Amino acid sequence: MTKKILVTGGTGYIGSHTLIDLIENQFIPISVDNGYNSDVSVLKKVEQLTGHKIKHYNIDLCDVNLSEQIFIENPDISGIIHFAALKAVGESTEIPLKYYKNNLISLMNILELSDKYNVKAFIFSSSCTVYGEGQLSPIDENASLAWASSPYGSTKQFSEQIIKDYTLTTHFQSVLLRYFNPAGAHPSGLMGESPKNIALNLVPVITETAIGKRQKMTVYGEDYDTRDGTCIRDYIHVCDLANAHTLALQYVLDNQQIEKTDVFNLGIGEGLTVLEMIKAFEKISKTSLNYFVGKRRPGDIQAIYADNKKARDILGWKPKNNVEDIMRSAWIWEQNKSKNL
Ligand code: NAD
Ligand code: WQD
Repeated sequence: MTKKILVTGGTGYIGSHTLIDLIENQFIPISVDNGYNSDVSVLKKVEQLTGHKIKHYNIDLCDVNLSEQIFIENPDISGIIHFAALKAVGESTEIPLKYYKNNLISLMNILELSDKYNVKAFIFSSSCTVYGEGQLSPIDENASLAWASSPYGSTKQFSEQIIKDYTLTTHFQSVLLRYFNPAGAHPSGLMGESPKNIALNLVPVITETAIGKRQKMTVYGEDYDTRDGTCIRDYIHVCDLANAHTLALQYVLDNQQIEKTDVFNLGIGEGLTVLEMIKAFEKISKTSLNYFVGKRRPGDIQAIYADNKKARDILGWKPKNNVEDIMRSAWIWEQNKSKNL
């Protein structure tokens, strides 16, 4: 039987790609988003690609009464994937209370409603940022969590703890998914990262520079102790990431889960430097990127990448895309955006 899944942050970058993966795996997603960092028009693309109409609620999850309406109208929701959050690390240091209020109140509301309405599975978007500085990579899920260097990072650490504590008191089970660096776009070229706020992550900065939205880009530091002096990260294609959510849901709904709350790293398991990313982009786009090397960006960690064995072994997750797929899809998406496709 097909199961209804509530996707919070459903019009956002990772949420919208997950809607597609859920439909492709016979789930019926319902989307909720307040449009703070995304546009509802992405649902038209999802519908075009899947042939399925998406039920969507334009609601702020910090409003518990409005949020409850979703459950009253859909009392048979089996699982929740909770993407909705504010995610700009730098901004969170300027307006920390906004981040704490939005990310934690919306989480607590949706958790309480999950229990009240007998939801079985609660999947949460966490981040490798919970590991903090100073851990040796590849990092596995048992690594201790260090001090989070931003209020955003703290909201992810607090959220994880709130979910673990609350799950013990409920009948549902939860999964914490710690993403490394999501990047890339849907292979159709119809959807990708399209934030209302300015893009700050490496891949969109590269494609925006190549298309001419930015004159040039800065590589933040070339004096790290890495193979070419630039920072190392684990870039994971957004479609592979989306699929891990479907697998995590199936894992819980098929009663395979042993722990009340389980944790999985989602990264490709390989680290690439900033200069290697730029070279990969130049190769697939056959362009020369206008970049210069600047100072280190405060707060950047030298190197971090995932040990993803647990997700592979237990969820059966097999990421299919490599860095070239990430760059190719991101570049096609950037060009299509500029043509208003
Ligand atoms: P996104 O900004 O594209 O999507 C988040 C969505 O949540 C947005 O559409 C926003 O409008 C919505 N939202 C925020 N607060 C809301 C509220 N109170 N009520 C309803 N909707 C609300 O971000 P994304 O990249 O798709 O990230 C999704 C999740 O993954 C976030 O929790 C983020 O912290 C986490 N994450 C992202 C990354 C990344 O680099 N993209 C890495 C690790 C973790
Ligand atoms: C990647 C690398 C930069 C832009 C952030 C969050 C993290 C998680 C993922 C949510 C770094 C370098 C970047 C540029 C550059 N998000 N860079 N020039 O910082 O690893 O992680 O997104 O949970 O919490 O902190 O990602 O894409 O910003 O940077 O040289 O213009 O690219 O220094 O080494 P980051 P990023």
